Amino acid sequence: MNAPTARLSTSADWRVSRLDLTDSTNQQLLEAAEKSRAKPGDVLIADQQSAGRGRQGRQWLSPVGGLYLSTLIEDREGWGPIWALVVGLAAHQAIGNILGREAHELKLKWPNDLMRDDRKLAGILIERAGERQPWWLVMGIGINVHVPEQREPDIAYLQDIAPDATADILAERLLEALSALRKAFAQGGKAMIRKAWLDHAWRLGGPVSCHVDGRKLHGTFRDLDGDGALLLELADGSTRKISGGVVHFGTEQEAG
Ligand code: BTN
Repeated sequence: MNAPTARLSTSADWRVSRLDLTDSTNQQLLEAAEKSRAKPGDVLIADQQSAGRGRQGRQWLSPVGGLYLSTLIEDREGWGPIWALVVGLAAHQAIGNILGREAHELKLKWPNDLMRDDRKLAGILIERAGERQPWWLVMGIGINVHVPEQREPDIAYLQDIAPDATADILAERLLEALSALRKAFAQGGKAMIRKAWLDHAWRLGGPVSCHVDGRKLHGTFRDLDGDGALLLELADGSTRKISGGVVHFGTEQEAG
């Protein structure tokens, strides 16, 4: 990557570059990968993003004080969409490590948000870089660290519970966790990833609404399948596999 190298203490798996400001670290890594200027293991961190993006075409507000990190990974394991769970687990482990005893309050919202107190603490956006085989994936992680003057009601801020937490510490822990989990899951495979994720699932067993093929579905969040899709149990007892789209965790009335 053509960005200044950052002085973070990480394993040899990662080459970390840093920018004060960019549009989106995901966008920058995707472009660099396309032009063969980035390779798997490259990490880009920005102090601020002017056009941070989230899932479903949403914006990701990125003021100074948060962690905005993207990394390029080659899917040599062939995990495909289940990477979403792996990166969520890495973020869970990294933040949990900082929180210590408070870590049990952190939950994983399918497919890969981190929740605390029913508020969103972190989000993950995974995008495919080109058509290479095995896939190259850009994993973008945003963590709300600093508490702003004007709080957003649905957002959790890490410094509320860990006042000494910084974006740099988090970046180191996150990359460490991602390396360690990748190695551990290489042995245990997808079944181990699914089980580890379910151990921290948010609202497992609760009501869920979503849109599938233009139809609104309501049911209960029962499980994940081997590829990380959400398994929704409908009122007639049948099960539907939900692989993406907008999913609302709550009752039909709450979903509107
Ligand atoms: C979401 O929950 O909607 C996903 C948010 C992902 C935000 C991160 S911040 C670093 C990387 N760069 C981006 O533009 N987005 C991701």
